[in-house]
Amino acid sequence: MKNTPIRTLAAAAALAACGIAQAGEVEVLHWWTSGGEAKAAAALKASMQAKGHTWKDFAVAGGGGDSAMTVLKSRVVSGNAPAAAQIKGPALQEWAAEGVLANIDDVAKAEKWDSLLPKAVADVMKYKGSYIAAPVNVHRVNWLWANPEAFKKAGTKVPTTWDEFFVAAEALKKAGIIPVAHGGQNWQDFTTFESVALGVGGTDFYRKALVQLDPATLNSATMEKVLSTFKRVKTYTDKNAPGRDWNLATAMVIKGEAGMQLMGDWAKGEFVAAGKVPGKDFICAPAPGTAQAFTFNIDSFAMFKLKNAENTKAQKALAAAIMSPEFQEVFNLNKGSIPVRLGMNMDKFDDCAKQSAKDFVATSKSGGLLPSIAHGMAVPPAVEGAIKDVVSQYWNSDKMSAKDAMARIANAAKAQ
Ligand code: BGC
Repeated sequence: MKNTPIRTLAAAAALAACGIAQAGEVEVLHWWTSGGEAKAAAALKASMQAKGHTWKDFAVAGGGGDSAMTVLKSRVVSGNAPAAAQIKGPALQEWAAEGVLANIDDVAKAEKWDSLLPKAVADVMKYKGSYIAAPVNVHRVNWLWANPEAFKKAGTKVPTTWDEFFVAAEALKKAGIIPVAHGGQNWQDFTTFESVALGVGGTDFYRKALVQLDPATLNSATMEKVLSTFKRVKTYTDKNAPGRDWNLATAMVIKGEAGMQLMGDWAKGEFVAAGKVPGKDFICAPAPGTAQAFTFNIDSFAMFKLKNAENTKAQKALAAAIMSPEFQEVFNLNKGSIPVRLGMNMDKFDDCAKQSAKDFVATSKSGGLLPSIAHGMAVPPAVEGAIKDVVSQYWNSDKMSAKDAMARIANAAKAQ
Protein backbone atom coordinates (compact mmCIF):
# COMPACT_ATOMS: atom_id res chain seq x y z
CA MET A 1 0.00 0.00 0.00
CA LYS A 2 2.86 2.31 0.98
CA ASN A 3 4.29 2.11 -2.53
CA THR A 4 1.01 2.39 -4.42
CA PRO A 5 1.13 5.48 -6.66
CA ILE A 6 -1.30 8.23 -5.66
CA ARG A 7 -2.82 8.14 -9.15
CA THR A 8 -3.81 4.50 -8.74
CA LEU A 9 -5.26 5.15 -5.30
CA ALA A 10 -7.23 8.10 -6.61
CA ALA A 11 -8.57 5.99 -9.49
CA ALA A 12 -9.55 3.21 -7.08
CA ALA A 13 -11.31 5.72 -4.85
CA ALA A 14 -13.15 7.15 -7.84
CA LEU A 15 -14.26 3.67 -8.87
CA ALA A 16 -15.37 2.84 -5.36
CA ALA A 17 -17.41 6.04 -5.36
CA CYS A 18 -19.13 4.84 -8.56
CA GLY A 19 -19.95 1.59 -6.81
CA ILE A 20 -17.49 -0.46 -8.87
CA ALA A 21 -15.09 -2.53 -6.82
CA GLN A 22 -12.90 -3.62 -9.73
CA ALA A 23 -12.74 -2.43 -13.29
CA GLY A 24 -12.63 -4.91 -16.13
CA GLU A 25 -12.21 -4.95 -19.85
CA VAL A 26 -14.93 -5.41 -22.45
CA GLU A 27 -14.02 -6.42 -25.94
CA VAL A 28 -16.88 -5.50 -28.25
CA LEU A 29 -17.28 -6.73 -31.82
CA HIS A 30 -19.29 -4.50 -34.16
CA TRP A 31 -19.25 -3.20 -37.74
CA TRP A 32 -19.93 0.46 -37.06
CA THR A 33 -17.14 2.13 -39.01
CA SER A 34 -18.87 4.77 -41.17
CA GLY A 35 -19.03 8.42 -39.98
CA GLY A 36 -22.40 8.24 -38.22
CA GLU A 37 -21.88 4.67 -37.01
CA ALA A 38 -18.50 5.45 -35.48
CA LYS A 39 -19.95 8.42 -33.58
CA ALA A 40 -22.69 6.19 -32.19
CA ALA A 41 -20.18 3.48 -31.20
CA ALA A 42 -18.05 6.13 -29.49
CA ALA A 43 -21.02 6.89 -27.22
CA LEU A 44 -21.00 3.30 -25.97
CA LYS A 45 -17.26 3.36 -25.44
CA ALA A 46 -17.50 6.66 -23.50
CA SER A 47 -20.24 5.29 -21.29
CA MET A 48 -18.10 2.25 -20.39
CA GLN A 49 -15.00 4.33 -19.77
CA ALA A 50 -16.98 6.67 -17.51
CA LYS A 51 -17.71 3.62 -15.35
CA GLY A 52 -13.98 2.91 -15.14
CA HIS A 53 -13.90 -0.05 -17.53
CA THR A 54 -11.54 -0.55 -20.45
CA TRP A 55 -13.07 -0.70 -23.93
CA LYS A 56 -11.33 -2.95 -26.40
CA ASP A 57 -12.64 -2.11 -29.82
CA PHE A 58 -13.17 -5.03 -32.18
CA ALA A 59 -14.52 -3.28 -35.29
CA VAL A 60 -14.74 -5.29 -38.52
CA ALA A 61 -15.56 -2.98 -41.42
CA GLY A 62 -18.29 -3.95 -43.87
CA GLY A 63 -21.87 -2.68 -43.93
CA GLY A 64 -24.55 -5.20 -43.04
CA GLY A 65 -22.04 -7.16 -40.95
CA ASP A 66 -21.26 -10.17 -43.15
CA SER A 67 -17.49 -9.83 -42.64
CA ALA A 68 -17.96 -9.24 -38.91
CA MET A 69 -19.92 -12.49 -38.59
CA THR A 70 -17.21 -14.46 -40.41
CA VAL A 71 -14.52 -13.09 -38.09
CA LEU A 72 -16.68 -13.72 -35.03
CA LYS A 73 -17.17 -17.37 -35.96
CA SER A 74 -13.45 -18.03 -36.21
CA ARG A 75 -12.80 -16.28 -32.88
CA VAL A 76 -15.46 -18.29 -31.06
CA VAL A 77 -14.35 -21.57 -32.64
CA SER A 78 -10.80 -20.92 -31.42
CA GLY A 79 -12.13 -20.40 -27.88
CA ASN A 80 -11.45 -16.67 -27.83
CA ALA A 81 -14.88 -15.03 -27.87
CA PRO A 82 -15.21 -11.28 -27.26
CA ALA A 83 -17.34 -10.11 -24.29
CA ALA A 84 -20.06 -8.85 -26.60
CA ALA A 85 -20.86 -9.00 -30.29
CA GLN A 86 -23.39 -7.31 -32.53
CA ILE A 87 -25.70 -10.23 -33.32
CA LYS A 88 -29.34 -9.82 -34.28
CA GLY A 89 -32.69 -11.54 -34.72
CA PRO A 90 -32.94 -15.32 -35.28
CA ALA A 91 -29.12 -15.60 -35.33
CA LEU A 92 -29.18 -14.98 -31.55
CA GLN A 93 -31.04 -18.26 -31.05
CA GLU A 94 -28.48 -20.14 -33.14
CA TRP A 95 -25.55 -18.76 -31.13
CA ALA A 96 -27.33 -19.48 -27.84
CA ALA A 97 -28.02 -23.07 -28.94
CA GLU A 98 -24.23 -23.50 -29.32
CA GLY A 99 -23.98 -22.90 -25.56
CA VAL A 100 -21.54 -19.98 -25.88
CA LEU A 101 -23.76 -17.12 -24.67
CA ALA A 102 -24.01 -15.87 -21.09
CA ASN A 103 -27.22 -15.57 -19.09
CA ILE A 104 -27.72 -11.91 -18.13
CA ASP A 105 -31.04 -12.31 -16.29
CA ASP A 106 -29.58 -10.72 -13.16
CA VAL A 107 -28.96 -7.44 -15.01
CA ALA A 108 -32.30 -7.62 -16.84
CA LYS A 109 -34.20 -8.22 -13.57
CA ALA A 110 -32.40 -5.46 -11.67
CA GLU A 111 -32.99 -3.01 -14.53
CA LYS A 112 -36.59 -4.19 -15.17
CA TRP A 113 -36.10 -4.94 -18.87
CA ASP A 114 -39.33 -6.93 -19.12
CA SER A 115 -41.32 -3.78 -18.47
CA LEU A 116 -39.06 -1.51 -20.56
CA LEU A 117 -39.15 -3.47 -23.83
CA PRO A 118 -41.96 -4.37 -26.23
CA LYS A 119 -42.64 -8.08 -25.57
CA ALA A 120 -41.84 -9.01 -29.19
CA VAL A 121 -38.37 -7.47 -28.78
CA ALA A 122 -37.73 -9.02 -25.35
CA ASP A 123 -38.58 -12.45 -26.75
CA VAL A 124 -35.86 -12.13 -29.42
CA MET A 125 -33.30 -11.22 -26.72
CA LYS A 126 -34.10 -14.37 -24.72
CA TYR A 127 -33.15 -17.99 -25.16
CA LYS A 128 -35.28 -20.52 -23.29
CA GLY A 129 -36.71 -17.66 -21.25
CA SER A 130 -33.38 -16.06 -20.20
CA TYR A 131 -31.83 -12.88 -21.55
CA ILE A 132 -28.67 -13.49 -23.57
CA ALA A 133 -28.52 -10.15 -25.41
CA ALA A 134 -29.21 -6.45 -24.91
CA PRO A 135 -31.07 -4.44 -27.60
CA VAL A 136 -29.74 -1.07 -28.69
CA ASN A 137 -32.20 0.52 -31.08
CA VAL A 138 -34.89 0.20 -33.73
CA HIS A 139 -33.81 0.95 -37.28
CA ARG A 140 -36.45 1.41 -39.97
CA VAL A 141 -35.34 -0.04 -43.29
CA ASN A 142 -38.09 1.15 -45.66
CA TRP A 143 -36.85 4.71 -46.18
CA LEU A 144 -36.07 6.81 -49.23
CA TRP A 145 -33.44 9.55 -48.76
CA ALA A 146 -33.62 12.47 -51.15
CA ASN A 147 -31.71 15.65 -51.93
CA PRO A 148 -34.30 18.47 -52.24
CA GLU A 149 -32.00 20.68 -54.36
CA ALA A 150 -31.57 17.88 -56.89
CA PHE A 151 -35.32 17.37 -57.06
CA LYS A 152 -35.84 21.13 -57.50
CA LYS A 153 -33.31 21.22 -60.30
CA ALA A 154 -35.04 18.28 -62.00
CA GLY A 155 -38.48 19.85 -61.49
CA THR A 156 -39.91 16.67 -59.97
CA LYS A 157 -41.30 15.59 -56.62
CA VAL A 158 -40.23 13.02 -54.06
CA PRO A 159 -42.13 9.85 -55.04
CA THR A 160 -44.74 8.13 -52.92
CA THR A 161 -45.49 5.27 -55.37
CA TRP A 162 -43.31 3.18 -57.66
CA ASP A 163 -44.87 4.83 -60.73
CA GLU A 164 -43.88 8.23 -59.35
CA PHE A 165 -40.45 6.83 -58.52
CA PHE A 166 -39.71 6.12 -62.18
CA VAL A 167 -41.10 9.50 -63.26
CA ALA A 168 -38.77 11.21 -60.76
CA ALA A 169 -35.84 9.00 -61.78
CA GLU A 170 -36.34 9.94 -65.46
CA ALA A 171 -36.50 13.66 -64.60
CA LEU A 172 -33.35 13.48 -62.46
CA LYS A 173 -31.54 11.68 -65.26
CA LYS A 174 -32.54 14.36 -67.79
CA ALA A 175 -31.21 17.00 -65.38
CA GLY A 176 -27.80 15.27 -65.41
CA ILE A 177 -28.13 13.88 -61.88
CA ILE A 178 -27.60 10.20 -61.01
CA PRO A 179 -31.15 9.20 -60.07
CA VAL A 180 -30.37 6.41 -57.59
CA ALA A 181 -27.26 6.17 -55.40
CA HIS A 182 -26.45 2.50 -54.97
CA GLY A 183 -23.48 0.49 -53.81
CA GLY A 184 -21.90 -2.82 -54.60
CA GLN A 185 -22.49 -5.38 -51.86
CA ASN A 186 -25.24 -7.96 -52.04
CA TRP A 187 -26.88 -6.75 -48.81
CA GLN A 188 -27.44 -3.36 -50.48
CA ASP A 189 -29.23 -5.04 -53.39
CA PHE A 190 -31.26 -7.02 -50.86
CA THR A 191 -32.17 -3.85 -48.92
CA THR A 192 -33.55 -2.30 -52.12
CA PHE A 193 -35.33 -5.55 -53.02
CA GLU A 194 -37.03 -5.65 -49.62
CA SER A 195 -38.47 -2.15 -50.03
CA VAL A 196 -39.63 -2.86 -53.58
CA ALA A 197 -41.30 -6.09 -52.40
CA LEU A 198 -43.12 -4.23 -49.64
CA GLY A 199 -44.15 -1.31 -51.86
CA VAL A 200 -45.22 -3.32 -54.89
CA GLY A 201 -46.62 -6.37 -53.13
CA GLY A 202 -47.98 -4.86 -49.90
CA THR A 203 -47.84 -6.01 -46.30
CA ASP A 204 -49.55 -9.39 -46.66
CA PHE A 205 -47.43 -10.32 -49.65
CA TYR A 206 -44.24 -9.34 -47.80
CA ARG A 207 -45.19 -11.40 -44.75
CA LYS A 208 -46.21 -14.47 -46.71
CA ALA A 209 -43.27 -14.36 -49.13
CA LEU A 210 -40.35 -13.10 -47.06
CA VAL A 211 -41.22 -14.04 -43.48
CA GLN A 212 -43.30 -17.20 -43.84
CA LEU A 213 -41.53 -18.24 -47.09
CA ASP A 214 -44.84 -19.49 -48.49
CA PRO A 215 -44.03 -21.31 -51.78
CA ALA A 216 -47.20 -20.18 -53.58
CA THR A 217 -46.52 -16.52 -52.77
CA LEU A 218 -42.87 -16.83 -53.74
CA ASN A 219 -44.02 -18.26 -57.08
CA SER A 220 -46.69 -15.69 -57.91
CA ALA A 221 -47.44 -13.00 -60.47
CA THR A 222 -46.87 -10.42 -57.71
CA MET A 223 -43.39 -11.79 -57.07
CA GLU A 224 -42.62 -11.54 -60.76
CA LYS A 225 -43.79 -7.91 -60.78
CA VAL A 226 -41.65 -7.20 -57.69
CA LEU A 227 -38.60 -8.65 -59.43
CA SER A 228 -39.08 -6.72 -62.66
CA THR A 229 -39.68 -3.46 -60.77
CA PHE A 230 -36.54 -4.11 -58.71
CA LYS A 231 -34.48 -4.67 -61.85
CA ARG A 232 -35.85 -1.48 -63.38
CA VAL A 233 -34.42 0.47 -60.42
CA LYS A 234 -30.97 -0.69 -61.50
CA THR A 235 -31.24 1.15 -64.81
CA TYR A 236 -31.16 4.41 -62.81
CA THR A 237 -27.94 3.63 -60.90
CA ASP A 238 -24.49 4.64 -62.18
CA LYS A 239 -21.81 2.39 -63.64
CA ASN A 240 -19.52 2.92 -60.65
CA ALA A 241 -21.96 1.34 -58.20
CA PRO A 242 -20.22 -2.07 -58.10
CA GLY A 243 -17.93 -2.23 -55.09
CA ARG A 244 -19.16 1.03 -53.57
CA ASP A 245 -19.89 1.14 -49.82
CA TRP A 246 -23.36 2.24 -48.72
CA ASN A 247 -22.09 5.34 -46.93
CA LEU A 248 -20.35 6.53 -50.09
CA ALA A 249 -23.67 6.16 -51.88
CA THR A 250 -25.24 8.28 -49.13
CA ALA A 251 -22.47 10.85 -49.63
CA MET A 252 -23.55 11.16 -53.28
CA VAL A 253 -27.04 12.18 -52.13
CA ILE A 254 -25.55 14.52 -49.51
CA LYS A 255 -23.53 16.28 -52.24
CA GLY A 256 -26.39 16.33 -54.76
CA GLU A 257 -24.50 14.12 -57.23
CA ALA A 258 -27.36 11.66 -56.84
CA GLY A 259 -31.04 12.34 -56.20
CA MET A 260 -32.08 9.51 -53.91
CA GLN A 261 -31.07 6.36 -52.04
CA LEU A 262 -33.13 3.46 -50.74
CA MET A 263 -31.53 2.60 -47.40
CA GLY A 264 -32.32 2.08 -43.71
CA ASP A 265 -32.04 5.03 -41.35
CA TRP A 266 -28.38 4.41 -40.50
CA ALA A 267 -28.10 6.62 -43.63
CA LYS A 268 -29.53 9.45 -41.55
CA GLY A 269 -26.51 9.06 -39.28
CA GLU A 270 -24.35 10.03 -42.28
CA PHE A 271 -26.43 13.11 -43.14
CA VAL A 272 -26.38 14.23 -39.51
CA ALA A 273 -22.64 13.57 -39.13
CA ALA A 274 -22.15 15.80 -42.21
CA GLY A 275 -24.03 18.59 -40.41
CA LYS A 276 -27.15 18.27 -42.60
CA VAL A 277 -30.63 19.13 -41.36
CA PRO A 278 -33.67 16.95 -42.17
CA GLY A 279 -36.47 18.73 -44.04
CA LYS A 280 -33.98 21.37 -45.23
CA ASP A 281 -30.83 19.70 -46.60
CA PHE A 282 -32.31 16.22 -47.01
CA ILE A 283 -35.69 14.53 -47.08
CA CYS A 284 -36.63 11.26 -45.39
CA ALA A 285 -39.73 9.66 -46.87
CA PRO A 286 -41.12 6.14 -46.59
CA ALA A 287 -39.93 4.03 -49.55
CA PRO A 288 -42.55 4.27 -52.34
CA GLY A 289 -45.82 2.56 -51.47
CA THR A 290 -44.74 1.69 -47.92
CA ALA A 291 -46.04 4.60 -45.80
CA GLN A 292 -48.36 2.28 -43.85
CA ALA A 293 -45.66 -0.28 -43.10
CA PHE A 294 -42.41 -0.48 -41.16
CA THR A 295 -39.61 -2.99 -41.78
CA PHE A 296 -37.72 -3.10 -38.51
CA ASN A 297 -34.08 -3.93 -37.86
CA ILE A 298 -33.08 -4.10 -34.21
CA ASP A 299 -29.38 -4.01 -33.34
CA SER A 300 -28.43 -5.98 -30.27
CA PHE A 301 -25.35 -7.20 -28.45
CA ALA A 302 -25.08 -10.85 -27.49
CA MET A 303 -23.02 -11.48 -24.38
CA PHE A 304 -20.53 -14.35 -24.48
CA LYS A 305 -19.56 -16.59 -21.54
CA LEU A 306 -16.34 -15.26 -19.98
CA LYS A 307 -13.94 -16.80 -17.47
CA ASN A 308 -12.49 -13.66 -15.87
CA ALA A 309 -14.62 -12.29 -12.98
CA GLU A 310 -13.68 -8.62 -13.49
CA ASN A 311 -14.44 -8.83 -17.19
CA THR A 312 -17.77 -10.47 -16.43
CA LYS A 313 -18.62 -7.52 -14.19
CA ALA A 314 -17.66 -5.13 -16.97
CA GLN A 315 -19.82 -7.13 -19.38
CA LYS A 316 -22.83 -6.80 -17.06
CA ALA A 317 -22.14 -3.07 -16.77
CA LEU A 318 -22.14 -2.91 -20.57
CA ALA A 319 -25.54 -4.63 -20.73
CA ALA A 320 -26.95 -2.21 -18.16
CA ALA A 321 -25.44 0.81 -19.96
CA ILE A 322 -26.97 -0.23 -23.30
CA MET A 323 -30.48 -0.09 -21.90
CA SER A 324 -29.98 3.11 -19.85
CA PRO A 325 -32.05 6.14 -20.98
CA GLU A 326 -28.91 8.32 -21.30
CA PHE A 327 -27.23 5.89 -23.68
CA GLN A 328 -30.40 5.14 -25.64
CA GLU A 329 -30.74 8.86 -26.31
CA VAL A 330 -27.20 9.80 -27.29
CA PHE A 331 -26.55 6.64 -29.26
CA ASN A 332 -29.73 6.85 -31.32
CA LEU A 333 -29.34 10.57 -31.98
CA ASN A 334 -26.10 9.68 -33.75
CA LYS A 335 -27.12 6.35 -35.27
CA GLY A 336 -30.27 7.51 -37.07
CA SER A 337 -32.42 4.92 -35.30
CA ILE A 338 -34.92 5.33 -32.46
CA PRO A 339 -34.61 4.05 -28.87
CA VAL A 340 -35.83 0.51 -28.27
CA ARG A 341 -36.52 1.33 -24.61
CA LEU A 342 -40.19 2.24 -24.11
CA GLY A 343 -41.30 5.57 -22.71
CA MET A 344 -38.28 7.58 -23.87
CA ASN A 345 -38.52 11.34 -24.24
CA MET A 346 -38.17 12.12 -27.96
CA ASP A 347 -37.77 15.92 -27.61
CA LYS A 348 -34.18 15.98 -28.83
CA PHE A 349 -34.93 13.78 -31.87
CA ASP A 350 -35.56 15.16 -35.37
CA ASP A 351 -38.72 14.81 -37.46
CA CYS A 352 -37.52 11.63 -39.24
CA ALA A 353 -37.03 9.89 -35.88
CA LYS A 354 -40.34 11.23 -34.57
CA GLN A 355 -42.12 9.89 -37.66
CA SER A 356 -40.36 6.57 -37.22
CA ALA A 357 -41.41 6.35 -33.56
CA LYS A 358 -45.01 7.22 -34.46
CA ASP A 359 -45.13 4.73 -37.33
CA PHE A 360 -43.53 1.99 -35.20
CA VAL A 361 -46.43 2.22 -32.74
CA ALA A 362 -49.11 2.64 -35.45
CA THR A 363 -47.88 -0.31 -37.55
CA SER A 364 -47.54 -2.54 -34.48
CA LYS A 365 -51.31 -2.09 -34.10
CA SER A 366 -52.27 -2.25 -37.79
CA GLY A 367 -50.21 -5.32 -38.71
CA GLY A 368 -47.83 -3.27 -40.86
CA LEU A 369 -44.83 -3.91 -38.59
CA LEU A 370 -42.59 -6.43 -40.35
CA PRO A 371 -39.13 -7.88 -39.76
CA SER A 372 -36.47 -6.87 -42.28
CA ILE A 373 -35.28 -9.90 -44.23
CA ALA A 374 -32.21 -8.09 -45.55
CA HIS A 375 -31.02 -7.27 -42.01
CA GLY A 376 -31.31 -10.56 -40.21
CA MET A 377 -34.72 -10.14 -38.61
CA ALA A 378 -37.08 -12.37 -40.58
CA VAL A 379 -35.58 -15.78 -41.33
CA PRO A 380 -32.62 -17.91 -40.15
CA PRO A 381 -29.21 -16.74 -41.46
CA ALA A 382 -28.79 -19.67 -43.90
CA VAL A 383 -32.09 -18.92 -45.66
CA GLU A 384 -31.39 -15.20 -45.67
CA GLY A 385 -27.97 -15.79 -47.23
CA ALA A 386 -29.33 -18.12 -49.91
CA ILE A 387 -32.11 -15.72 -50.99
CA LYS A 388 -29.74 -12.73 -50.80
CA ASP A 389 -27.33 -14.46 -53.20
CA VAL A 390 -30.02 -15.09 -55.81
CA VAL A 391 -31.38 -11.55 -55.53
CA SER A 392 -27.88 -10.18 -56.20
CA GLN A 393 -27.18 -12.58 -59.04
CA TYR A 394 -30.41 -11.44 -60.66
CA TRP A 395 -29.55 -7.75 -60.08
CA ASN A 396 -26.11 -8.25 -61.66
CA SER A 397 -27.07 -10.53 -64.54
CA ASP A 398 -28.14 -9.52 -68.03
CA LYS A 399 -29.43 -12.98 -68.70
CA MET A 400 -31.54 -14.11 -65.75
CA SER A 401 -35.26 -13.42 -66.29
CA ALA A 402 -37.65 -12.47 -63.48
CA LYS A 403 -39.24 -15.91 -63.88
CA ASP A 404 -35.85 -17.66 -63.47
CA ALA A 405 -35.03 -15.55 -60.44
CA MET A 406 -38.41 -16.34 -58.93
CA ALA A 407 -37.86 -20.10 -59.27
CA ARG A 408 -34.38 -19.81 -57.78
CA ILE A 409 -35.58 -17.72 -54.83
CA ALA A 410 -38.33 -20.24 -54.07
CA ASN A 411 -35.67 -22.94 -54.09
CA ALA A 412 -33.28 -20.89 -51.91
CA ALA A 413 -36.10 -20.41 -49.39
CA LYS A 414 -35.84 -24.14 -48.63
CA ALA A 415 -32.21 -23.77 -47.41
CA GLN A 416 -31.90 -24.59 -43.71
C1 BGC B 1 -27.07 -2.69 -39.01
C2 BGC B 1 -26.83 -1.22 -38.79
C3 BGC B 1 -25.69 -0.76 -39.67
C4 BGC B 1 -25.95 -1.15 -41.12
C5 BGC B 1 -24.86 -0.75 -42.09
C6 BGC B 1 -27.24 -2.98 -40.48
O1 BGC B 1 -27.41 -4.37 -40.67
O2 BGC B 1 -28.22 -3.10 -38.32
O3 BGC B 1 -26.54 -0.95 -37.44
O4 BGC B 1 -25.50 0.62 -39.54
O5 BGC B 1 -26.11 -2.55 -41.21
O6 BGC B 1 -23.62 -1.18 -41.68
